[in-house]
Amino acid sequence: MDLKLTILVGTMTGTAQLVADEVADALGRDGVAAEVVVMDGLDAGVFAEGGAFLICTSTYGQGDVPDNAQKLFADLEATKPDLSSVAYGVIALGDRTYAQTFCFGGKRFDALLQSLGARRIGEVMIHDASAGTIPEEEAVAWVGPWLAQFREERDKAA
Ligand SMILES: Cc1cc2nc3c(=O)[nH]c(=O)nc-3n(C[C@H](O)[C@H](O)[C@H](O)COP(=O)(O)O)c2cc1C
Repeated sequence: MDLKLTILVGTMTGTAQLVADEVADALGRDGVAAEVVVMDGLDAGVFAEGGAFLICTSTYGQGDVPDNAQKLFADLEATKPDLSSVAYGVIALGDRTYAQTFCFGGKRFDALLQSLGARRIGEVMIHDASAGTIPEEEAVAWVGPWLAQFREERDKAA
């Protein structure tokens, strides 16, 4: 294992959790120790030691983060920690039926983390629940190249 990574899960009905579990398994096969942590009860302290994160979250309400992610999101907004030692990727689950707020949960986390100095690796993965594709399959396909890019940037910086 050359890399430790935390997958933070924002979910209402469990899809993002399933995606995170499958992604963690795929990362494990690729030499990464990935821990899946649901966001319930977390605050900004989860980022205190920096490191590598994947934000895996769905979208609810008027383009909001799920209920179990509200506290973490609000605490980051309120305390504005310096996240310059954090590198992250985003898996954003949504439904294009909600055209005005499609995947805003993940997109809002992305904007917030960037504003706090965290460094995003790769593009945000977007999943559309109305497209008929399997989110965990898409996420597992996405995370291989994401990990390669992560390692490349890490090695360049070393
Ligand atoms: C009440 C409700 C509101 C939703 N609002 C949005 C939304 O604003 N934007 C979006 O892209 N998807 C929205 N969705 C779709 C969910 O984000 C999507 O189905 C996701 O895959 C659910 O993942 P989860 O089971 O991890 O919560 C909404 C779904 C429901 C049931």
